[in-house]
This record gives sequence, structure tokens and C-alpha cells, in this order.
Amino acid sequence: MDPVDALIMDEAGPAGRTLAIDAPALPADRYRADRAETPGAGLLTRADLVSIDTVLLRLPRALSALDELAERIAAWGEPGVRVVAGGRVKHMTHGMNEVLARHFGEVRASRGRQKARVLHASDPHRPAALSWPRSRRDDDLDLTVVAHGATFGTNRLDAGTRLLAGALELAPGERRPAVDLGCGSGILAALLARRGYTVTGLDVSAAACASTAATAAANRLAVRVLHADAADGLRVGQAAVIVCNPPFHVGAAKDSSPAFAMFDAAGAGLAPGGEFWCVFNSHLPYLPALRRAIGPTGIVARDRAYTVTRSVRA
Ligand SMILES: C[S@@+](CC[C@H](N)C(=O)[O-])C[C@H]1O[C@@H](n2cnc3c(N)ncnc32)[C@H](O)[C@@H]1O
Repeated sequence: MDPVDALIMDEAGPAGRTLAIDAPALPADRYRADRAETPGAGLLTRADLVSIDTVLLRLPRALSALDELAERIAAWGEPGVRVVAGGRVKHMTHGMNEVLARHFGEVRASRGRQKARVLHASDPHRPAALSWPRSRRDDDLDLTVVAHGATFGTNRLDAGTRLLAGALELAPGERRPAVDLGCGSGILAALLARRGYTVTGLDVSAAACASTAATAAANRLAVRVLHADAADGLRVGQAAVIVCNPPFHVGAAKDSSPAFAMFDAAGAGLAPGGEFWCVFNSHLPYLPALRRAIGPTGIVARDRAYTVTRSVRA
């Protein structure tokens, strides 16, 4: 067993009724929900926490993600609920203790073992109201952005997304189908909907899907949301436009394979002549992959950090 999971199990001790979140490798009888990146699993709900004594958790990397989870557990958990949250020491920060201490009266760290450590939290503080999802007005885009804590960038506009949004030159949508592939908080989906496209926002993350739906609603725009992996979610040969700001990490490690899989999915999902607009870090060697997966590709915009490309389905 992975040292983090092993330490979580040992530190949990006799755990009573247990909910495991985002820890799929923990023993199956304790596994209930792998929410961050499993199509089909939604956000943590009140019902999930009924009569749960112990929540086992792999610490998410983003403090905002931990904050929303801790807030929900404190809001809806039983008064005696406790959290046993583990991670690799090199990925853990004091900020994690501080986030947990916002929602629980007692927070303490275990001793480290095999480069893993566990945080224990108990004595939940019931919040008067949930603070997530949170919304922010972006005056440049004239858009209200709403995001759950585990969403990429939460409700802030990523610099790459901003460059892509500014570079997008598209024919009027006239209800033609468009997809925001890996939609996050749904900024690009909202911009496409505003231009008259019939938009699907697709993301493998439940938090991202809920955020995209909330962003669309806040701006009174129609966006269909699909909680799926890119490889499974696109209808073959249907889309007139696909936009994408792909991830270039898997967990903590830099890895382009998810981006390449998204390019392949986009190549299959576009109608002939359809356009794929993409933004990525300029140092990444994505042009050959785009040409291979989709078709002729040109650079449309570039700044010191990011490159925006437009590929046309051959
Ligand atoms: C860099 S973020 C971009 C989010 C948003 N489009 C924006 O520009 O702010 C990449 C998004 O792709 C999603 N993602 C990663 N792998 C995916 C996959 N295989 N299928 C669908 N979405 C994926 C992530 O959950 C994340 O929301």
C-alpha cells in the first residue's frame, strides 16, 4: 500500500463508519467517493456525511479545495466527526493546518513516516452559511465567474485563458455546436455561449462542472455541462469549434499526456473544417501534436508565457 494511504489507515485506528474521499486505493469497504476526477461522482453532499464518524482524505494540493471540503464536513458532519487527512510531506504546507483550523476546533499533525504525514481534525465549527462556491466579477470580460474550491484557478482568470479569450476570432455562432474542453470555471464556455454557439462545457472534475454551470447561470447563459473524460465525452465529428486550455500536470508532476489525449479527442470531435483553439505554455512542444491530431495549425497570439493556436480539422 502507498505510504500515505497506509499512514491514514494506521492513524485512523478503529474508525467507525467511514467515508473516504479522493483516496481510491483505500480498502474497498471504506471507499465511498473519489470525487475530484471521477466522472459520475458529484461534490460532497450532506447525505454523504450522515452518521459518518471518520472522513479519510488524501489532501488536495489546492488550499481552496481543502477549504471547501473542510467547510462542508464541518457544516454537515455529525458533531463528533473527525477528519484524518494524509499527504506526502513534500506537498504539505502549514497553510493546510490553518485551513483545517478555520473549520475545526482541534487540529494536530501526526509524526511523519516514510515521507508521509497525517493531519487530524475534530470538533467542527458549524458555519453560518457555506462560503463556496465563490463568485467574482471580471470587468474586462464583463463576466461573473463562479467557482468551487477544487476548480482550476478557482474564480480567477488564468493568464493563458485571458490570452485565449482575447485572441478568439470566431464567426457568429448561429447555434452551431461548440465545446469548452476541460471547462474549469466555465469562462470560455460562457464567452462562446455569448457569441451565439450552442455550448457544451466538458470536464473530468465534478467541481469544474458545478462551477461551469454556476458561471453560466450567473450570466444568464445556456451551457450544457458534461462530467466526463475528454476521451469519452465528445460526439464524433459534431463540433464546429472546440476551445481548450489543457492541463500540463498530473498531480504534482509535469506531464503532457492529458493534453495530447485532449487533442486526439478534439480531432475526433470536430466536424470537417471545424476549429480547435488552444492555449499552452510557450515552451511546450505542442505544435507537432496539434498538427498530427487535428490538422493545419497556426499561432494566433503569443506573449512571454503563453501561445494561442488555431487548428483546422483537415
Ligand atoms: C488548465 S485547466 C483550464 C480550465 C478552464 N478552461 C480555464 O481556462 O480556466 C484544465 C481543465 O481540464 C480538465 N481536465 C483535465 N484532464 C481532463 C480530461 N481527461 N478530460 C476532461 N477534462 C480534463 C481539468 O479538470 C481542468 O478543469
